[in-house]
Amino acid sequence: MCGIVGYVGPRAALPVLVEGLRRLEYRGYDSAGVVVLNGHGLESEKSPGKLQNLEERLKKRPLDGTIGLGHTRWATHGGATEPNAHPHFSCDRRIALVHNGIVENFAELKRGLRGHRFASETDTEVAAHLIERFYASERDPVRAVHRAVGLLRGHFAFAVIFADHPDLLVAARLNCPLVLGLGEEENFIASDIAALLPYTRRALPLDEGDIARVDRAGVRVFDRMLVPARRPVIEVTWGAESAAKGGHAHYMLKEILQQSETVAAELSGRVDAERGDVRFERFGIPKAALRSARRIAIAACGTAWHAGLVAKCAIEELAKVPADVGFSSELRYGDTPFDRDTLTVAISQSGETSDTLAAVRAAREAGSRVLAITNIRGSTLAREADGVLFMRAGLEVCVAATKTYTSQVMNALLFAIHLGRVRGALSRARARQILRDALALPPKVQEVLGDDCAVLRCAKRFLRGYDYMYIGRRYNLPTAYEGALKMKEISYLHAEGYGAGEMKHGPLALVDRRMTVVAIAPQGRVLEKMVSNMQEIHARKGHLVAVTTRGHPIAIAEETFEIPPCEEMFSPLLAVVPLQLLAYHTAVGLGRDVDQPRNLAKSVTVE
Ligand code: AGP
Repeated sequence: MCGIVGYVGPRAALPVLVEGLRRLEYRGYDSAGVVVLNGHGLESEKSPGKLQNLEERLKKRPLDGTIGLGHTRWATHGGATEPNAHPHFSCDRRIALVHNGIVENFAELKRGLRGHRFASETDTEVAAHLIERFYASERDPVRAVHRAVGLLRGHFAFAVIFADHPDLLVAARLNCPLVLGLGEEENFIASDIAALLPYTRRALPLDEGDIARVDRAGVRVFDRMLVPARRPVIEVTWGAESAAKGGHAHYMLKEILQQSETVAAELSGRVDAERGDVRFERFGIPKAALRSARRIAIAACGTAWHAGLVAKCAIEELAKVPADVGFSSELRYGDTPFDRDTLTVAISQSGETSDTLAAVRAAREAGSRVLAITNIRGSTLAREADGVLFMRAGLEVCVAATKTYTSQVMNALLFAIHLGRVRGALSRARARQILRDALALPPKVQEVLGDDCAVLRCAKRFLRGYDYMYIGRRYNLPTAYEGALKMKEISYLHAEGYGAGEMKHGPLALVDRRMTVVAIAPQGRVLEKMVSNMQEIHARKGHLVAVTTRGHPIAIAEETFEIPPCEEMFSPLLAVVPLQLLAYHTAVGLGRDVDQPRNLAKSVTVE
């Protein structure tokens, strides 16, 4: 949620910090700050609001120095004010710290820090003062941070700078992501890889409990017992341009339009349509475990949970094994019976969602193997899972997930096909048919992307609408949920996803001429039933918008978004595209902050 950047090296630190923060803006934040060390000591500037406010201040008061820290804060304890913005300082202002996460026992620790003067309402500040206290006796920055961290409860990533050590940053991590970026005679700290892209492709993700010394010459990592530790370095394949808008008005539009490429990337090298097989590189889950699983438990949040619902349909249809999808935020409490016979599939774009990580830990503790579907190499989820399917969506900057949703769905479907084949529930002949259809998807996605006239018209027409309802069944019930989530996230209009068959059990009471109902009704097993449900809406004068298969119009729909014909299980990949565009154009029409919607963060690292 918050963003951390640290730099030490020969360059002027400030531009590196500001650029890094800009690349982390997508994580969501409401204030920003920097601290730089120079001949005058630790100099800092902070500002509530957008990074631009901070930049305005820095124009008037540039900070010199070749070592420093930057931070974007998403308020938890205390409002989005200047005193609450990071960095936070020790009493003598010779130690400064930036923090992501929550220090749960801050109130208790604060009471023990008698004589210390606090300048903010944050939980973070207590850590700066604890480090100050231990530094006074230890005189060693790493030891001081280690002792302070030992007293903290919660989840956090810290970066700390000491006025006494002009070539040193200290980083610490517990349950919040933090990576070190490795350069030539310069090194970096960042809460995610996006901040490093202009400078280096070599990243070292810290493990839980790690503390690191970062100076110009190199980095040294210590584990939670302060024993030197070796951590693998990963090579980042994303280019710096992936963090640029590429001529589009918003990241969201760029990312929506990339989907025919990203779907193609997901298929590339994995599909053998002739043999009717799917192959994954470094999959990590033995075939025997796939065969013996008696249940599949899927854990995810938000959009990833919707991808999980598509996975459930496909797993039950193709592999004939029961699959449950749970919100990670509920599964984390451990009451769900995970066991050795359950294969857990955790879906998370970021691989850092706190609830999903907690659910995965509960599952593993109960003996369940975990397969992760994630977009981020080196993420906590990727490191903790037994096996990983890496998505190939590339960096997604907009808070609202679009291309990573279709990538999650594509991976989930390929996994279901693989599972079906391995378990012998899916015949080779049927798998061939399905996989041939899969290979034809990228141009179909492109076709849907190229046909946005109806979407634009619809966005304009219903802009001032009263309420949106999205309805679907089977594979496209998740599409209804996802379409509604996109609409509410970025347009702030009320939108609800609902099972079409459930409408008459309550929500139909809401329908009148002020309601717009988007029905996802492509060709497939449930089409007739969908049409009946649409009739019920029509009879009550609701406005109907339909997503249909080309050549199969539904006369009562006032607006239609067409998708090309495909296997029913692939229809969510195509049907969601016009709904993403509808949300986008509606939000633009309403003048919303499309890429960084209010109150939301890209990666939810708190419970
Ligand atoms: C989707 O638009 C949202 N940004 C949100 O629902 C997101 O999918 C959810 O927070 C889960 O994130 P994850 O995939 O990184 O775990």
